[in-house]
Amino acid sequence: MRKFTFYFFIFFILVFALLLGGFSQNNARADSGYVGAETCKGCHEAYYNKFMKSVHGKKAIPGSPANREVCESCHGPGAQHVEKGGGKGVAIFAFGRGVSAQEKASKCLACHEESKVLAFWNMNRHKASGNSCNSCHSIHKGVDKLLIAAEPDLCFNCHRNIRAQINKQSRHPIKEAFVGRQALKCSSCHDTMGSFSTEPIVSFSGSRRSGTDKMIRADSVNELCFKCHAEKRGPFMWQHPPVEESCLICHEAHGSNHGKLLTNRVPFLCQNCHSVQGSHPRRPYTNLHSFQGSATANKNKFFGRSCLNCHTNIHGSNGPGERGETFIR
Ligand code: HEC
Ligand code: HEC
Ligand code: HEC
Ligand code: HEC
Ligand code: HEC
Ligand code: HEC
Ligand code: HEC
Ligand code: HEC
Ligand code: HEC
Ligand code: HEC
Repeated sequence: MRKFTFYFFIFFILVFALLLGGFSQNNARADSGYVGAETCKGCHEAYYNKFMKSVHGKKAIPGSPANREVCESCHGPGAQHVEKGGGKGVAIFAFGRGVSAQEKASKCLACHEESKVLAFWNMNRHKASGNSCNSCHSIHKGVDKLLIAAEPDLCFNCHRNIRAQINKQSRHPIKEAFVGRQALKCSSCHDTMGSFSTEPIVSFSGSRRSGTDKMIRADSVNELCFKCHAEKRGPFMWQHPPVEESCLICHEAHGSNHGKLLTNRVPFLCQNCHSVQGSHPRRPYTNLHSFQGSATANKNKFFGRSCLNCHTNIHGSNGPGERGETFIR
């Protein structure tokens, strides 16, 4: 019997606590100063109308601002702003210049922290350099994905040097988007809101690296390239070490004035690493190697000629014997 009284007592306390909790919550809401979107509409009809058509304005989408405090999900409680008759800088959060990037982003991250695209926002270069969500997105004037402008124009607002690169003679088809052809976007390769950064690794050639902190959509440069150029992955019986290390030892990522996005013209590209004096002239061709004429005459074949005329499988070869080993087949 005493046991029963005890449980009854606990039950009573629990019910009381719940009631108290619910009561204070309601109270907080009444004091919080939310006025609702219809009130905002009264003075900001254009903003209201456009907003209601966007993803954020749709009640059908769970968790959208339409299902929360609507306008006030981002702008904060508006009672004071309305009481004072509205106005610039009047008691409302407005994503203006005076507000820190972090504070602006926190309004969005309140809902988007869990979004997959933002999983690595904290490691992002755009965040580190003081950009916020509204450097690229506009809630009220945005186009597709609420972007301020479509790619690549969006990116060129800040990365002008890349515009020059994608206008070069040989290029990844990025600007071709302008004429409606099938094209790449900057975001096909870059994860502008996230991405792991692997520490850049200085290569044996000293000039390029295999790791990268340039927010690419892969763990390494080569893994990125293989996504679209799978045939370069191999496996090859005969590997060319620079190809294994980083495609960027020989290729530019965006554009180049040398064919095939190459960083330099062949044979100079190859001669960065292969001394002509050292290799071919020391091993003159004989009939054995399908060359005719004297060794001296053949030496000259290397100059002004593309190494690629003979070394056709420069990315790696499965050809037999020395021919494969030297990427002739
Ligand atoms: C998802 C967050 C979000 C919601 C919800 C939202 N806004 Fe905004 N609002 C912004 C951001 C960010 C800006 C800054 C400019 C931009 O992104 O277009 C802004 C700018 C504004 C401005 C102009 C500020 C200026 O600098 O002139 C007004 C007015 C405004 N919002 C009204 C509204 C109204 C009315 C609603 C509801 C119908 C609403 N907003 C809902 C995020 C939001
Ligand atoms: C009584 C009219 C009125 C109501 C109601 C009203 N506003 Fe405003 N609001 C204004 C005026 C006027 C401005 C100044 C506009 C300008 O300068 O272009 C303004 C400016 C703003 C700005 C920009 C502030 C800044 O510092 O740049 C935001 C954001 C905003 N309102 C959001 C809201 C939201 C959200 C609501 C609803 C909670 C709301 N307003 C309700 C009249 C109103
Ligand atoms: C109240 C919650 C909430 C807030 C606050 C919020 N969002 Fe969203 N947002 C959503 C939901 C829900 C979706 C739809 C599902 C999704 O894409 O995650 C969405 C979608 C988006 C999209 C994709 C649009 C599309 O067309 O695919 C962008 C971009 C976006 N939000 C940016 C922002 C930015 C920038 C802010 C801050 C200014 C912000 N959001 C604030 C809930 C919110
Ligand atoms: C440097 C520009 C840039 C910044 C800064 C940025 N975004 Fe984005 N965002 C993009 C681009 C480009 C896309 C479309 C391509 C993509 O998904 O990567 C996008 C897409 C999105 C999407 C939609 C993803 C999808 O496909 O449904 C959401 C949500 C989003 N951004 C939210 C945010 C939030 C929240 C912030 C701030 C914490 C932010 N973004 C900061 C450029 C940016
Ligand atoms: C509002 C300006 C702005 C916009 C818009 C912008 N960026 Fe950036 N971006 C920056 C800044 C600032 C940095 C940091 C540069 C640094 O750390 O040296 C950066 C860094 C980068 C980096 C790393 C570069 C490096 O040298 O480490 C890449 C890649 C990049 N942005 C791609 C993009 C892409 C793709 C877009 C379009 C979807 C874009 N950015 C839009 C300002 C912008
Ligand atoms: C085919 C894939 C690809 C596309 C498409 C692409 N990038 Fe890159 N981007 C890369 C790679 C790879 C790097 C170099 C990484 C490294 O050096 O470690 C890079 C580097 C960068 C850098 C930093 C280095 C620099 O040159 O300043 C910026 C900024 C950048 N890209 C912006 C852009 C912009 C803007 C676009 C769209 C116009 C774009 N990228 C399109 C792959 C790409
Ligand atoms: C998202 C897909 C994609 C990624 C990732 C990608 N490429 Fe490409 N690449 C293309 C497309 C599309 C073309 C144009 C093919 C065509 O015109 O037939 C191309 C063309 C090329 C060309 C030939 C250019 C010419 O002038 O003919 C080279 C070289 C090249 N890519 C190297 C690379 C390297 C190196 C990487 C990694 C840094 C890379 N690609 C990453 C899609 C991609
Ligand atoms: C040692 C220098 C070198 C490296 C490293 C290199 N390439 Fe190349 N690549 C070349 C040369 C030279 C050509 C031009 C071949 C031609 O014109 O026949 C070329 C051409 C290409 C082409 C266009 C023609 C074709 O064969 O499809 C693609 C795509 C390409 N490379 C991708 C890659 C990828 C992906 C990597 C990294 C896995 C890479 N390259 C690494 C030298 C290199
Ligand atoms: C960044 C330096 C680098 C560049 C650029 C480079 N290579 Fe190589 N290459 C190497 C290295 C390292 C080896 C491996 C040497 C070894 O195994 O003794 C190699 C191996 C070779 C071999 C096979 C040699 C053998 O004995 O098995 C040939 C053939 C070759 N390269 C041709 C070229 C050609 C043609 C180019 C230009 C398109 C080129 N390489 C560009 C570094 C480079
Ligand atoms: C006329 C055809 C031809 C041209 C052009 C050519 N090679 Fe070769 N190369 C060969 C043949 C065949 C072999 C293998 C037989 C041998 O070892 O002599 C070879 C072997 C090599 C080797 C490995 C042999 C060694 O000595 O270690 C390297 C490295 C090489 N070539 C680099 C180059 C470079 C760099 C160029 C351009 C400057 C070039 N080749 C132009 C046909 C050519």
